[in-house]
Amino acid sequence: MKYTIVSGSTRINSQSIKVSKYVKYILEDKLGETVYLLNLAQANLKFWDESFWNKNIEFDPNWTLAKKELEESDAIIIVAPEWNGMIPPALKNFFHLAVKGEIKNKPGLIISVSSGPNGVYPITELRLNTYKNSFFCYIPHHVIIRYVGTVLNDLKVSENDDDKIIRERIEDSLKVLVEYARAFTSIRNSDAVKNFSFPFGM
Ligand SMILES: Cc1cc2nc3c(=O)[nH]c(=O)nc-3n(C[C@H](O)[C@H](O)[C@H](O)COP(=O)(O)O)c2cc1C
Repeated sequence: MKYTIVSGSTRINSQSIKVSKYVKYILEDKLGETVYLLNLAQANLKFWDESFWNKNIEFDPNWTLAKKELEESDAIIIVAPEWNGMIPPALKNFFHLAVKGEIKNKPGLIISVSSGPNGVYPITELRLNTYKNSFFCYIPHHVIIRYVGTVLNDLKVSENDDDKIIRERIEDSLKVLVEYARAFTSIRNSDAVKNFSFPFGM
């Protein structure tokens, strides 16, 4: 199966991309899955404007590339840093773009990232606001990585007990996501889902 990891920070050398690369390593090397990493610090995705609704022009070639990878994916991992108690603007923008079926009825795992003792706000914001028109399906499991600077600094070697536990938590959560990804293929193929006629509410 194929997985997309969205690294939600636009900072170069962010902690989110460090975490995303670790998730990619576990999915590929330990679980044998295929991964596309969408790094919002490099993808240079255009911010939403009204040309998004114009069917006669390409909205953004960078989005066209990402969109294809997302369409091919069976599940999505959102790595979301906490910025001012929110997700970053580029990650919010991603959810304004991914409303044309790219992540529809696909399971999602949230991994939030904080340099301090925080990290809850990205989870609540994503779960509350980003699923309606995307039809993205967050699984109940999520991971909060607090004091992110002290963990996951080496792909294979853990530095301390917290580092060891967070690695176990990430791997266990990914194994659960793999099961959801398998099960959701039959949901997407069902007549009830295919024939649903209210794509934007009533
Ligand atoms: C603009 C900005 C605002 C931030 N606000 C918060 C915050 O509200 N809570 C928090 O725990 N960390 C905050 N941080 C620190 C991030 O948690 C820290 O940068 C962490 O490494 C995750 O972000 P990154 O992936 O961009 O590195 C903020 C960072 C930035 C750049």
